[in-house]
Formats: sequence, C-alpha cells, structure tokens
Amino acid sequence: MNRLFNFSAGPAMLPAEVISTIQSELLDYKGTGVSIMEMGHRTPIFDEIVDRTESNIKQLLDIPDNYHVLFMHGGASHQFAAIPLNLLEQGDSADYLVTGTWSEKAGAEAKRLRPEVNVINAESLIEGKRGVTKLSELNLNPNAKYLYYTPNETIGGLAFESIPNVAIPVVADYTSAILSEPVDVSKFGLIFAGAQKNLGIAGISLIIIRDDLLKDLNSDLPILWHYKSMNAERGLYNTPATFAWYVARLMTDWMLEKGGMSYFAKKNGDNAARLYQYIDQSQFYSNDVQIESRSKLNIPFLLSDESKNDLFLKQAESNGLVALKGHRSVGGMRASMYNAMPKDAVEKLISFMDTFANNNLS
Ligand SMILES: Cc1ncc(COP(=O)(O)O)c(C=O)c1O
Repeated sequence: MNRLFNFSAGPAMLPAEVISTIQSELLDYKGTGVSIMEMGHRTPIFDEIVDRTESNIKQLLDIPDNYHVLFMHGGASHQFAAIPLNLLEQGDSADYLVTGTWSEKAGAEAKRLRPEVNVINAESLIEGKRGVTKLSELNLNPNAKYLYYTPNETIGGLAFESIPNVAIPVVADYTSAILSEPVDVSKFGLIFAGAQKNLGIAGISLIIIRDDLLKDLNSDLPILWHYKSMNAERGLYNTPATFAWYVARLMTDWMLEKGGMSYFAKKNGDNAARLYQYIDQSQFYSNDVQIESRSKLNIPFLLSDESKNDLFLKQAESNGLVALKGHRSVGGMRASMYNAMPKDAVEKLISFMDTFANNNLS
C-alpha cells in the first residue's frame, strides 16, 4: 500500500487503520451479509452506531450531562445559517468575531438573516504579523445574545489562545480543531464542526449544544435545522448520511484506542512546534502569524521566492508529500496536520523543505 503524507485541509487524511476497517467491513458489515451503505437507519445495527458515536464523543471530550451531542446533515456552512435562526429572534443581536475567511462567512450569513448581528474585525496586524485582537480591545454589544468565534481559522492559520471569557453563551466553529486536544465544553453554549477533518468524511456535522439553547421553532427555521427537533429525534428525523456517521464512529473508536485527547494534543502540539521552529530559523520560508495566535493544525508558510512555488509543490509530490498548496485566496503553502498525520510526517516534510531551500537559495 502506497499511502502518501496528505497535508490537505479537508477532506483530510484519514488513519490507514480506519480505512482498512471500512474496507474489511464494506461488503458484509459484521456478519450481517449487508453493507452498512445498504442498511436502514432505524435498524438495531445503525442504532448501535448512533449510540456508540455519541458516547465516544462524550468520553473523548468529557462532556457534561447538560449538553447534547447530535449530528446533522451537511457541512459546517449549513450551521452558519442554523445558528442565528435557532438562537436569535428577529431584532436580536449577537457578536461575531472575524479572524479569517470562515468567521467572515459565518458573520455575513448571520447578518443577512438577522440584520442586528454585530460583525467585528478581531484580526490585528502588528509589525507585519497577523494575530487575534484581545477581547478587551473589541467593541462588544452589551445586548448580544451570544458570542461567535472560530477557534482555529483553517485558511489563514490563526487560532485563539483561550476561550473568550464572556457572560453570554459562546458559540464556536470547531470544524478544523475538533477532537485535536481537550476542550472545556462547559465554557460553551454551542460547538459545531463539519466532519471532514478529525471526524472522518464530508456529509454531516457534529453539534454539541447546552440544554437551555434548545429553543422552540421559529417560523423562518426549517425543521431539519431546528436543534430541538433534531435532538428529540437523535438526528434521525429523516434519512441521515449513514456512511459518514459510520466513519465518525470508527474515527472516534480509533481516537479512544490511541489514548484520547491527551495523546492527540501532544502529537499535534509537537508536530506544529517542530515545523514552526524550522520555519522561524529559515531564510527561505516564513510564517506571518504572531506566535500566540498560531494554529497548531493549519500552518501556512511562504517561500521567499514565490516564483518557486510550483516547483516546490511538484518536488514535494514526488517526495510523497501532497496537498501543500495554500488556499486559493491566500496563496503560498499550507501544511494541515490533523489527528491522522503521523509523528514522522513532519520530519519528512522538514527534510524536504530544507533540501529544497538549499537548492534554491539565490
Ligand atoms: C473552520 C471552518 N469552518 C467552516 C468550514 C466550511 O465547512 P463546509 O465545507 O463543511 O461547509 C470549513 C471548511 O474547511 C472550516 O475549516
């Protein structure tokens, strides 16, 4: 099997063990003679997947009893609309902190649906380095019903150092950081994440929501996006994306087997520290994020000679290092390293980067 190191931001690298399990169970799921893809979502077998995925996530994140874990159709972007429609009445406001592309999109969608929403630029530029502005320096609305932020901005590689400390519910887009380290769930009103990074494959999103935020149905909210109804039906209001749910179960089984959040926090933290350390001492590569705002999962970097970008990507690929191209909106390179990225991948990446730099320094 020739598996490459895949630095894609998402859909992202999956553990080979998980893909092997999928392969071995694909034709005949656990002796049933039927593939999981062909099985009803209201069968005892699928019920077991629903229960197990939920209990795995509760265990991995040590989720308090007053929170619900649910899966809903679609990507994280669906939640950009579902959140204001569930949590705000017409005329209500919420504060949206913008630190990159995804929070900007979420803020724009919320404002379109609930025009009183306050979209706040929370990205600072100090001596050419980007960072997250301190909460105390932002103009927050005292009447906001919740504070929304993106702990890890996947494209720009900007991360919050800590959870914003406010008296209103905190809503967080954890799409690219979910299950990458321990999180104190009790500090949040709602956490959501598209599945296509640490939870497997695209098609569903995880929502962790506090009891008191399961509100009654608004007239402008489709029932399929209504948290209270979906929670009452355990996400099975209609036919869910069963295969994606099954993969989320396998991913969470795998994370528990590996040692849970402390294992991944260490591995991801070590990988990121090693790559930043290399970039920072290099004359050829640079990262423009302030140290305290650096993402541990998505590391963007630039070559000092941008005309070498295509050559870098081509040679990286022939060395088994793929999907290092930065997002089309920012250019340069980006190494996304989620839970499935093995410890030795970063050494291989650094070794390649170093050889490339030595061969191309002018
Ligand atoms: C932080 C973040 N939020 C939202 C999204 C959008 O996710 P989706 O494509 O599932 O709508 C992404 C996608 O990568 C993301 O990284």
